[in-house]
Amino acid sequence: MNHSRCLYPGSFDPVTLGHMDIIRRAAGIFDTVVVGVLHNPEKQGCFPVEKRLDMLRRACGGLSNVEIISYGGLLAQLTKEMDISVVVRGVRGVGDLESETVMARINRQLNPALETLFLPASPETGEISASMVRQLASFGADLSPYVPPQVLPDILAAFQHK
Ligand code: PNS
Repeated sequence: MNHSRCLYPGSFDPVTLGHMDIIRRAAGIFDTVVVGVLHNPEKQGCFPVEKRLDMLRRACGGLSNVEIISYGGLLAQLTKEMDISVVVRGVRGVGDLESETVMARINRQLNPALETLFLPASPETGEISASMVRQLASFGADLSPYVPPQVLPDILAAFQHK
């Protein structure tokens, strides 16, 4: 197992400054961070997966040790296939901790070699969620405190047509 590489999985619908906080910090710990965007054909989401990947690639453009991929199916299976032994997840508070602990345990049952590393959200980004960004965008609020500047125009454009 390769411990110098981690997987940071999520929906990233869309990428937020909260995600970027976790990506940057994981990139300071591991040689390589693989950011995995879940492609769930049964749950379309707000942005198509290709668009989410494109936005993440632009937001992470300055981070040389970050790779962006999409995946379908089980996270535990993906980590086996990619020979990755650490999954990183951001935790904003006790609600996240509860649900993330359940997910970490299930993933470890499916892949006993897998560790989940929780990173507490930084104080500046601890209140940000993709669902909150989508809601604020639908009301035309200023999104600049919540999303990377590289993707702000994409989000505004997407919600202009809704
Ligand atoms: O950003 P999110 O929506 O909190 O990320 C959740 C995600 C995508 C990491 C998680 O739902 C996932 O990887 N699902 C894939 C299916 C899976 O492995 N399920 C078992 C773990 S409960």
